[in-house]
Amino acid sequence: MIIKNPKFEISAVSPKQYPKNYLPEIVLAGKSNVGKSSFINTLINRKNLARTSSAPGKTRQINFYNMDDLFYFVDLPGYGYSKMSKEEQLRVGQFIEKYLSIRENIKLIILILDIRHKPTEDDKLMYNYIKSTNIPFIIIANKADKIAITKVDEAVEQIKRELKIIAGTIILPFSSERRIYSEKTWEEISKKIVKEI
Ligand code: GTP
Ligand code: MG
Repeated sequence: MIIKNPKFEISAVSPKQYPKNYLPEIVLAGKSNVGKSSFINTLINRKNLARTSSAPGKTRQINFYNMDDLFYFVDLPGYGYSKMSKEEQLRVGQFIEKYLSIRENIKLIILILDIRHKPTEDDKLMYNYIKSTNIPFIIIANKADKIAITKVDEAVEQIKRELKIIAGTIILPFSSERRIYSEKTWEEISKKIVKEI
């Protein structure tokens, strides 16, 4: 899919700031620094529309990016950033949960994990929470450029085992650094945003 005119729309901390046009929303979730903002930039082929940083914990609001008035990419703040105070982590956790629990136009949650590591306790909590919402989701195993190509399948299998992933769950390797990703990534998103007739 080619997005012609992607635009940052709003940083929201409370529901009254969420966009009012109720376009389909495709949500990026994952721990701090795992590559959520980079994922958006890679898919739309822009260097820095979604703000990225080498310092983790950069994204602290819910950022809505309007994709040609077809849908929004919604960039959530990262969880599990150890340098954030406990109060701040709790606050961020609460507004992520609020968004995911009340927003009815979420069509897909993309949970991003680091392909190199076992999922953290926070990743497991997030995965189980996402499952409990009944919103469709896929998992992206990011930073695939950081491991040998021959190890990718094995790493994906390890993530599946660790999360006790339910049958049929889609999990796809990805790399923003080397722009490695399968057609299936866009395919899964496109399926969710086709206008219902
Ligand atoms: P927060 O907003 O802090 O939650 O982080 P984020 O999940 O949005 O991560 P972001 O996209 O800002 O990326 C964090 C760092 O990881 C940056 O230095 C990126 O360049 C790097 N990064 C992101 N994706 C990849 C990837 O696929 N491979 C490699 N090697 N680095 C990546
Ligand atoms: Mg970010």
